[in-house]
This record gives sequence, C-alpha cells and structure tokens, in this order.
Amino acid sequence: MFRDNRRWLRAVDNVSLNIKRGETLGLVGESGSGKTTLGRAVLRLVEPTGGEVIYRTGKPNPSAKNSSGIDDTKEIDLRTVPMPEMRNFWRQMQMIFQDPYASLNPRMTVRDIIAEPLIVNGLAKGSDLNDKVMEIANICGLNTAWLSRYPHAFSGGQRQRIAIARALVMQPEFIVCDEPISALDVSIQAQILNLLKELQQSLKLTYLFIAHDLAAVAYAADRVAVMYVGQLMEVAPTESLYYQPRHPYTEALMSAIPNPDPDCEMAPVLLEGERPDPASPPPGCRFSTRCPYAVDRCKQSVPELQPVAQDHYVACHRVNELTLKGALELAG
Ligand SMILES: Nc1ncnc2c1ncn2[C@@H]1O[C@H](COP(=O)(O)OP(=O)(O)O)[C@@H](O)[C@H]1O
Ligand code: SF4
Ligand SMILES: [Mg+2]
Repeated sequence: MFRDNRRWLRAVDNVSLNIKRGETLGLVGESGSGKTTLGRAVLRLVEPTGGEVIYRTGKPNPSAKNSSGIDDTKEIDLRTVPMPEMRNFWRQMQMIFQDPYASLNPRMTVRDIIAEPLIVNGLAKGSDLNDKVMEIANICGLNTAWLSRYPHAFSGGQRQRIAIARALVMQPEFIVCDEPISALDVSIQAQILNLLKELQQSLKLTYLFIAHDLAAVAYAADRVAVMYVGQLMEVAPTESLYYQPRHPYTEALMSAIPNPDPDCEMAPVLLEGERPDPASPPPGCRFSTRCPYAVDRCKQSVPELQPVAQDHYVACHRVNELTLKGALELAG
C-alpha cells in the first residue's frame, strides 16, 4: 500500500501466484496495474502490508550453484526474515530494470559496475574478482576489451547487457526482469530476449518476466499472469492464453498486439474508457467499467480467480458463457 495524495492506494490486492523452479512466469498488464510493485514485494524491496512470500518449496536443487549457504530444503516466508539477513537472499534474487540508462552509475567503469555486488558482499577480490567479472561479461556478450569504459560509451542494448551481467555476477537463481526490453530499439529487443533465454538455460535461472504487452511475454514465458488494477484476471500456460484466452481483458490486450501482416484485417477488441484509479477501484469486477461483456452482476460482486482447465485460472463471472477471440481468430 502506498500513500498517494494522502489517500491509501492498494497497488496489489489479493494476488496469489507460484513460480516453478526453472520456469519463466510472464506478468502482463497496462502501465499502473501493479506489476513492478508485485515484483518488488516478492524481493522485499517494498514491504507488503500483508500476505506471504514463500521462497523454495522444500525441494533441493542439485544443479543450482548455491553460494549463500542457505538451506535449500527449507521453505521460508521471506517476510519473516530479519532485514539484515535478507542480504543472503538478495544474493540469490536479483532484479533487472526497464531503463538501462538509469540503472547504471555513470561515474563507474563497466568493470566496477559488474564487480560491485561481489565486492560489497565480500565474495571475491584480486584476480578471482577479475576472472569472475570477465567470465560473466563474456557470457553476456560484452566485449571485455571495453570494460574500462563508462556506461555512456555503450548503446542501449549493450547497457542492458551490462545490467544483466551485474545482476548475474553473484550467481542468483531467481530474477525479476521488469520490462527489460521496453526501453530498447525494436531491432535490439530480440537480441536481449534471446540472451535472457540462453542465460536461463545455461545458468538454470527462474524468471518473473514483467511486460506491458503480450508480444514480449509470448516469446519469453512458459506461463502468463494477466494483471489489471492490482488484481489477477487470468493465469494460464502461454499457449492457452494465446489461443484460448478466457478473460475479456486478456482478449483486449491480445488484440492490441500489432499484426505484422499488412493485409490482415483485424477486428480489434478496443479498450474503451478510462483505466480506473487504483486508489478507488470500482466495486465488483475491476474491469467492469471497460468490459464489453459486463452485466449487472459484474458491478456488484468481485469474481474470484477460479480454475477452468489444467493450470488455467480466470476471474470472470461469465467465464463459462463467453467465447473469446484468441490469437488465430484475431489474425483473421
Ligand atoms: N511509491 C509509490 N507511491 C505511491 N504510489 C505508488 C508508488 N509506487 C507505485 N504506486 C502506484 O501503484 C500503482 C501500481 O504501480 P506499479 O506497480 O508501478 O505498476 P506497473 O509496474 O504495472 O506500471 C500505480 O497506481 C502507481 O501510481
Ligand atoms: S466479470 Fe463481468 S465485467 Fe468482469 S471481465 Fe467478466 S464479464 Fe467482464
Ligand atoms: Mg512497472
């Protein structure tokens, strides 16, 4: 909860999600829907006012390089960990931000930027430190001859590679990628997405991958959670969400993806009306003020997130009555 113009604003409300080891969970929704707040709350970079953040499910991961000495077999509610001990967890959980310009210190060389987390945590020095920095820079596709330069000498895509190298240098296992490609040129976006995919494979990473449109997550994610004004509308395996969306908001987001085929006649489901103010959301279904299928019931009671198929959850009163358009129908 944030205080916004002296009102309390519940940026994320009643959201329950799990992320399996080694998977990419996509989190999509328009700007302001609470995605960053949720990502930060998971890492305890903001303190949630309620709820639990359970880390690890009790199954050891023999392939993960665990540098922190934390017991792999125990599940733990991160919200109960005393702040000084969170350092041990932050080694394993990192965040990559949208804006690689803002997230790098302009007065530090790239080598120092990447090395800093190791130095601060006392994890390496001397030639060992240098080796670790060179290794991760290499893996992230950076030219190691340029490590003594400053961030301004690099392009947007290169800067994002630097930010990724810095996040990975401590061998974390869980990464919140907060819109990591939205600030980049379209021509560079695929390169960074591919890099993140390759790194996930080779370093056995688990991602919470945040994006504001479905195009980026379709490629990156195994499952997708769709968020609207602080609540989950639909959670499904990526393919199901694409071809058989069951929530009207997902259908609307889907039709907003530009079709690369200029001859294709799209029948977009437009998002009309204003997005509600998160400080005073509408009663009932939060999407009811913009939903083309809304009926009286929608404005009266809040739809619960319910299972509709294997791994597929939807919060809509009319989920069993509606036939929505998936990617194929929308592409004509
Ligand atoms: N520190 C803050 N103080 C006040 N309001 C905030 C703060 N951070 C986020 N918010 C509000 O919480 C809501 C969700 O924001 P955010 O999590 O950044 O959404 P998203 O990442 O989906 O764009 C927005 O209405 C935003 O204005
Ligand atoms: S509950 Fe009603 S308003 Fe909400 S998405 Fe479903 S049909 Fe639309
Ligand atoms: Mg955000």
